[in-house]
Amino acid sequence: MPPQRPGRGLALVGYRGSGKSTVGRLVAGLLNRTLLDVDVEIEARAGRSIGAIFAQLGESVFRDREELILAEVFEQFPDAVVATGGGSVTRESNRRRIREFGHVVWLTAVPDELARRLETDDRGLPGRPALTPAGTIAEIAQVLRERTAFYAGLADVVIETGGKSPEEVAAAILESWTNWISR
Ligand code: S3P
Repeated sequence: MPPQRPGRGLALVGYRGSGKSTVGRLVAGLLNRTLLDVDVEIEARAGRSIGAIFAQLGESVFRDREELILAEVFEQFPDAVVATGGGSVTRESNRRRIREFGHVVWLTAVPDELARRLETDDRGLPGRPALTPAGTIAEIAQVLRERTAFYAGLADVVIETGGKSPEEVAAAILESWTNWISR
């Protein structure tokens, strides 16, 4: 992939439960673009849920697959709206690809709100695997601390999703996208 490629895609980053998949679907519809959800691609290729990949193969195998599939998705769908996995930003190679892909939107919410949303998975899948033994709220606080600088370093725009409907968040993304594309 050439460095400094002027990407024309739209990447959504943010913690689990920040609404990347739900809002991504809406934004893709509004822009008449394809939505690629990296988690869904990983599960489809593995033929098992992310929970099962974590449990049976371990997190590092999951991260290797995530890196591979993220790169493929960006390469094959340069115009897509891509919902990235919340932890993909922890690898430098992923961060570089996300940045090169195009407009980067960071969706945020406070830990309580993220925890509430994580109780139900909008894709109807079994719950997400634990990332630490700390328990939901403590885990969110800890992992967010580790990742915030990564999200912030990538984002062209930060959108706080608390108290907003998915449609309102999608509208805010569209506005940011329109400004960015006409830059
Ligand atoms: C993870 C986030 C998940 C999924 C996996 C690990 C993380 O993606 O990739 O459970 O480390 O934050 P979502 O952010 O789409 O839930």
